[in-house]
Amino acid sequence: MSTTFDLVIKGGTVVNHDGVGVRDVGISGGRIAAIGTLAAAQGGAVIDAKGLHVLPGVIDSQVHFREPGLEHKEDLESGSRGAVLGGVTAVFEMPNTKPLTTTAERLADKVARARNRMFCDFAFYVGGTRENIDDIPMLEKLEGSAGIKVFMGSSTGDLLVDDESSLDRIIGAISRRAAFHSEDEARLIERMHVRRAGDPASHPEWRDEEAAMISTRRLVRLAEKHRRRVHVLHVSTAAEMAFLAEHKDWASVEVTPHHLTLVAPECYETLGTYAQMNPPVRDERHRQAIWEGLAAGVVDVLGSDHAPHTREEKDHAYPASHSGMTGVQTLVPVMLDHVANGRLSIERFVDLTSHGPQRLFGIRGKGRIAVGYDADFTIVDLKRQETITDEQVASRAGWTPYHGKRVTGWPVGTIVRGRRVMWDGEIIGPAHGAPVGFLEGF
Ligand code: DOR
Repeated sequence: MSTTFDLVIKGGTVVNHDGVGVRDVGISGGRIAAIGTLAAAQGGAVIDAKGLHVLPGVIDSQVHFREPGLEHKEDLESGSRGAVLGGVTAVFEMPNTKPLTTTAERLADKVARARNRMFCDFAFYVGGTRENIDDIPMLEKLEGSAGIKVFMGSSTGDLLVDDESSLDRIIGAISRRAAFHSEDEARLIERMHVRRAGDPASHPEWRDEEAAMISTRRLVRLAEKHRRRVHVLHVSTAAEMAFLAEHKDWASVEVTPHHLTLVAPECYETLGTYAQMNPPVRDERHRQAIWEGLAAGVVDVLGSDHAPHTREEKDHAYPASHSGMTGVQTLVPVMLDHVANGRLSIERFVDLTSHGPQRLFGIRGKGRIAVGYDADFTIVDLKRQETITDEQVASRAGWTPYHGKRVTGWPVGTIVRGRRVMWDGEIIGPAHGAPVGFLEGF
């Protein structure tokens, strides 16, 4: 082949639809132009990836980057720094900002703030509310829209739709896959007395398995009634996992690294309120069931649910402490450590973080190392041992629940549309984030 490329990634072990093998990848105009054996001389620039694994760019399908309105926790720039330092090339960001992302104008504002300021590519969920149901077909089609997100139980912020008739109308109105925070609001209210002041270990007792299950059953019933696709975010219970295994026609499943890695009661003993999130981290029975769902293929994608809060906000006495933890920067190393421990294959990791999001959400031109696709790569060293620390965290929150955790497997390079954005822990080059495109959206 005598073609020349802008960049050749040489000698890395490529993980894609074709399996796992040493291949070169040639990149032209920000897209993958060739895969095979390419001469170094064919590349304007060459990355020597010998000994490294070249994965399709990791897509994190759930992050909260807090801009506008809550920039003391995070902003689009700082959140995206964490993303690319952690090997993430694209994120889907959540609508519980201030103001809420519930209109075309507010979505356009987020896209304008993000373009060429975020280091990774992006899409924004639009919050589904009682007021914007008639606009849903339009909101799903806008540039930068990841589709509709609904909070069925309240969490951080003011988004909530808990009545049957509004949920029925929203699900009837969607045409793309919509995402749901699935906890039953009525049960959460009814059980508030279960919370023990100062004891975050009571968080999973309050927001119990049944609260998640009631909501997920209702969600799937409405999805089947309308024959619409629903995405159940951060599934945290054994009961939901068993139920969803029997309802895969319309429901897809996301899990978080936190629910796969942390476990109660230990996490509350060691981390206190820093382990508090919604839905909660639960005991070993649930963690085991989530791993089994993952192994069985019931789980479609991983989302970090990166939900930064300042130390001050986390340090309030439970239950005044805020729910959520950082995660976008630690998704790759924490999950690669599970690969190193033999709990997960590298192929399945790629299925969860690239092929899975591409398939579920109909992402245009991303999520695969294939000719014609965007040249997005997460380059990792599966053998490298590192310790995760608060100091590494780019998030404004400045902390990680994994502080002090020794991991095997580390992201060493992040390439977004053919440009090296991160190499060996340094951000290089300007931010050139752009909206992710969707087959059924914009
Ligand atoms: O723990 C959580 N924090 N769960 C959510 O659903 C929202 C998030 C946040 O935005 O802080």
